[in-house]
Amino acid sequence: MSDIIYIDQIEIKNKRVLMRVDYNVSFEKDGSINDDIRIKNSLPSVKLLLGEGNRLILMSHLGKPKGRDMAFSMKPVADRLQEMMPDYKIVLIDDFETQKDLFAKQTEKEIYLLENTRFYAGEKKNDPVFSQELASLADVFVSDAFGSVHRAHASVVGVAAYLPSYGGLLLKREVEMIKKAIDAPERPVVAIIAGAKISSKIGLIEKLMDLADFVLIGGAMTNNFLKAKGFEVGKGFIENDYIPEAKRLLDLRPDKLILPIDRRIGSQTDETSAPVVKKIEEVLPTDETLDIGPETEKLFATIIAKAKTIIWNGPVGYFENPQFAVGSLAIFHAIVANDRAISVVGGGDTLSVIKGHPESVKITHISTGGGATLDLIGKGTLPGLDALRK
Ligand code: 3PG
Repeated sequence: MSDIIYIDQIEIKNKRVLMRVDYNVSFEKDGSINDDIRIKNSLPSVKLLLGEGNRLILMSHLGKPKGRDMAFSMKPVADRLQEMMPDYKIVLIDDFETQKDLFAKQTEKEIYLLENTRFYAGEKKNDPVFSQELASLADVFVSDAFGSVHRAHASVVGVAAYLPSYGGLLLKREVEMIKKAIDAPERPVVAIIAGAKISSKIGLIEKLMDLADFVLIGGAMTNNFLKAKGFEVGKGFIENDYIPEAKRLLDLRPDKLILPIDRRIGSQTDETSAPVVKKIEEVLPTDETLDIGPETEKLFATIIAKAKTIIWNGPVGYFENPQFAVGSLAIFHAIVANDRAISVVGGGDTLSVIKGHPESVKITHISTGGGATLDLIGKGTLPGLDALRK
């Protein structure tokens, strides 16, 4: 298998370029885009390709629609992209399958954006007929959708079989930075992994226990580990079927896997009463544990301070309630205080926690990938990357 060729390593000129981007942005309750970083981060590739006289067709999924559901239309994305690219006209193609005649009319001053790729049944099935249909729109395929390369879908993987295929600039930076953190990293390596479900992260935690010197655990999956050690964990979320797996991981490298020693307790919906802090041995069956406690913050900060490489994915508490975002912010401040370390931070929720904090510029790499970042660390490669290595 050859290496991925990126678009700054090859001349792509006067072509029709179909580029997969990840414009799966999040929205506010009023329907406005909450975070447009994924759109912004695609602009270097967009501009490079347009600068060479190419005609650009962009495509992305948005959310998890069941068929053509206009609540998941790319229209708000098209509008935001239009604001960012005022010298071009963004044309939202409602249904490329029935509007193929439009493509012959595309000018160099127009950027076409296909409607949500998940409006088509062939997308998630990686259907070869649908992939060929997409490929027929262009001469060249570029993948810049780092956040989606863990999905073996038609617009990510399938289409690459039918066109010369290259990686975009965002994809290049993401892959290079994550590889830097995991291939021969400077030690100590500290990984902070959190989230609700341990079931989806077992392979990753196992891999990180190999790679990292310390793996700090937060989020509701803490319950699995603490229960496996015999502690009461209260009434928070737990995957009871996975307690034996948690025990196995703990037995594997008890020296590396670092669990919270105290927790903040309260209610998800109560934003005013001060959380109660309890040591892990004091938690009662009626308690709802929603964040790490202050002693854990100190413990984690001490370990993070010594790191030369830091990987962080997932808020350690129920950050949607600001009372329980405190632990995650403590992790953030510990990371940015360590200016000798390379830090890679990813995952949509993690980015929501640090959004708007000016110090986030001190993080070496803020990844647009959530699942993609974790899968790349856990598996070493991803279907959407292999598709570009022919
Ligand atoms: C993401 O936001 O993680 C990517 O866009 C992938 O989205 P998905 O989980 O809906 O496939």
